[in-house]
Amino acid sequence: MMENNIKSRKFCEERWRPEYHFTAPKGWINDPNGLIYFNGWYHLFYQYNPYDCEWGAMHWGHAISEDMLHWKDLPIALKPDQAYDRHAEGGCFSGSAIEWNGVLYLFYSATVKENGKTFQTQCMAMSTDGINFEKYAGNPLISSPPDGASEDFRDPKVFRANEKWYMVVGGSIGGADCGGDGRVFLYESKDLYVWNYKGDILKSNGELGSMFECPDMFEIDGKWILTCSPMNHPSYNKAMYCIGTMNFENCEYTIEKIGNLDYGFDYYAPQSFLDKHGNRVLIAWQNGWTWMPWFEGWGPTSEENWRGTLSIPRKLSLDMDGNLRLYPVRELNEIMKLDGLMENLKISKSKVMLRPSGYKTCYIKVNLDIEKISSKFVRIGVWESGESVSIIEIDLVNNMLFFDRDRGDDFRQGKMGCPVSIKNKKIQIDVFMDCSCIEIYVNQGEQCITANVYPDKEQTGFWIDTPYKEAIVDRLEYGTMRNVWK
Ligand code: FRU
Repeated sequence: MMENNIKSRKFCEERWRPEYHFTAPKGWINDPNGLIYFNGWYHLFYQYNPYDCEWGAMHWGHAISEDMLHWKDLPIALKPDQAYDRHAEGGCFSGSAIEWNGVLYLFYSATVKENGKTFQTQCMAMSTDGINFEKYAGNPLISSPPDGASEDFRDPKVFRANEKWYMVVGGSIGGADCGGDGRVFLYESKDLYVWNYKGDILKSNGELGSMFECPDMFEIDGKWILTCSPMNHPSYNKAMYCIGTMNFENCEYTIEKIGNLDYGFDYYAPQSFLDKHGNRVLIAWQNGWTWMPWFEGWGPTSEENWRGTLSIPRKLSLDMDGNLRLYPVRELNEIMKLDGLMENLKISKSKVMLRPSGYKTCYIKVNLDIEKISSKFVRIGVWESGESVSIIEIDLVNNMLFFDRDRGDDFRQGKMGCPVSIKNKKIQIDVFMDCSCIEIYVNQGEQCITANVYPDKEQTGFWIDTPYKEAIVDRLEYGTMRNVWK
């Protein structure tokens, strides 16, 4: 049954199409949806417009994998085909999946517009084979937002706690586009069909954005983590997390820490799930909502007939200091091929060139011991040709890491930075590149920077240097990532 439906993709060879990050076979994708390990397969659903490289009436695309890296395409799981979800500017919006008694349940936000007003309701679909989904005849499960909330009411994430079902839904008081105040609403159910509103568990209070998209909630080591993607965040539309404790009875979430899941330009709408070993894993849309047609409508890959990428799956954990870490799942090691390893490498103003065998898809890992560095900066240049280059700068004066794409390509500029903590005088930086994606991890996931860059064919140079004085790099490794579609 499953075999008849699986489509193995012809190898993707376009210039910018990632070779180990997920992209749709063709057309537009945004958020990952319904991530789940079900019946021996990882299932990935995603916001999908199969007809165009622009966002449009949303479908749920579907793919499965045994390792979260090698994906096979399945038929579209949800189409906008009901009165409550059929609309050119609506459709089957983001949501989540759970398994219960052998049935796979999907929860999504059906979205339609009437006379300029948007109606978002929370709906359900079921499947026993994990391929064919039937929408619940009693949809919608939740037909309107809580009293006083705006029409922005979407992205249900369902999870289990204390032997009950809970659903977090993103919303706003005042409206996403009208300077409103973001909210995450909590619902409770005994049976997945009847849902009761409990209250809100996150409020922007004028500080965190006008609407919280794609909320998620899960437990790690006794703490409850709440993540969401704020619209109109004062600094940038970042995916954020809160760490805290949760009292489900009273609907009280006590926040102890708030932070960025990623400091880059291109990491949005992440969703978590449990892998087959019980690890909490996060996958995000590796672009930002500014890519939406009603905003900047940006992204140059439509000339290659695809648009939108999903990030490398990251394992989430809490470290000894209670901070959240995000680091590529260990399955990624299987597609890494070592090309070069140097220890105690002396660097100065003149660049040391690194020559990975696959310049489109390579990785660089750098270990520094600050006692061996008299300079203030260490820089890694990626995808260089002539004046064009993107630069990763480790600033040892301010303990920051910057990614500077001002000269990275012909499309976009910008520089983003994240803090670098120095413990035992050591720093580790891991950089993963994939045709038009770059993911940078500081100290094994203490901080991350994720971005898109669209280099030319000629941009094949990689190097490391230090602009002043000298430095010894403890260890430097580089190599090539295997194409997962081959
Ligand atoms: C986030 C988002 C979600 C919505 C979906 C529509 O990128 O705006 O809030 O459900 O995309 O495609």
